[in-house]
Amino acid sequence: MFTKNIIILAIESSCDDTSVSIMKNNKVLSNVVSSQKIHKNYGGVYPEIAARIHQKNIVHVVDIAIQKAKININQVNAIAFTLGPGLIGSLLVGVSFAKSLSIALDVPIFGVDHIHAHVFAHFIKHKQHKPPSFPFLCLTISGGHTQLILVKNFVNLKLIGNTIDDPVGETLDKCGKIMGLSYPSGPIIEKHATKGNPNKFWFCKPKVKNFNFSFSGFKTNFLYFIQRNTKINKNFIKEELYNICASLQKNITYILLEKVILAVKKNNINKVALSGGVSVNNYIKKIFIKELLCKKVKVFSLCKEYTTDNAAMIAMLGQIKLHQYQPPNSLSVVPFSTY
Ligand code: KG4
Ligand code: ZN
Repeated sequence: MFTKNIIILAIESSCDDTSVSIMKNNKVLSNVVSSQKIHKNYGGVYPEIAARIHQKNIVHVVDIAIQKAKININQVNAIAFTLGPGLIGSLLVGVSFAKSLSIALDVPIFGVDHIHAHVFAHFIKHKQHKPPSFPFLCLTISGGHTQLILVKNFVNLKLIGNTIDDPVGETLDKCGKIMGLSYPSGPIIEKHATKGNPNKFWFCKPKVKNFNFSFSGFKTNFLYFIQRNTKINKNFIKEELYNICASLQKNITYILLEKVILAVKKNNINKVALSGGVSVNNYIKKIFIKELLCKKVKVFSLCKEYTTDNAAMIAMLGQIKLHQYQPPNSLSVVPFSTY
């Protein structure tokens, strides 16, 4: 599919990471991510500040990506950017910059869906992971999303499950905040969990129909659990931190897994891909591999660089779109904008 020497410059700015990637065919030449640490002070992403920092960083991040890729900016054949979903102010910085650059370079521009990009991150050329063949099921778990997508091919993606309230990453972050951990709490919970007993505590399991998820009741249950226990013992969190983290991680993993198993059976699928920032979690990966192996389902995971928000996945989907829209041997007829 990716036979031509086409160079894409991609911009991801949907949340709090300013990322720019240069991709030649499906090979990443550079993938620069500038993370905004300031949000730690607020316990979550502060949208207005995120947009302003994107604006401040974007030119510099583009420069570094070009340098790292060892190309000249005039070699760029097309531009891809995150169209949504995301924070509106942050997205606006990316789209405005992408549009201006496409006019300056006189190259086509592609707006791509952030969630679909997480799915197709699996097609980035990488020595550690091979893409799943179609059809497969993709579970995207991040700070902003919890989605189950049935992927039939590059254009046929069916959303079969979604969170009806809070996403799983945000749930981990909020539970972490309740325990006094800093933002983002997902990686801290994983670290503490390695030293704890995952069977010590149980939290209420959401009862949601079909393949959908819900985490708001889970969060409330967790808050009440902590309040109840700290009333009895004010050192409860300190004394039980590792066990709480291990139990929390286990409960969340099995909530996700249960829905995936249901979806796998219903759709007769034997490949499950994991994507999104939460899927970097080694416990989740290990349990998914173990539990799905006995059902003869293969699990595909990504390296950290391509699970958290990154522009390489935007470039990958840009490549796919470009090849769909482009007649052979001509870039000039690609519509200026596809949205
Ligand atoms: O995909 P991502 O970088 O950004 C969004 O699109 O939201 O995901 C960020 C989320 C945060 O909620 C963070 O706590 C979580 O991913 N996360 C983790 C781990 N590393 C990041 N959750 C569990 N275990 C981890 N190791
Ligand atoms: Zn994301």
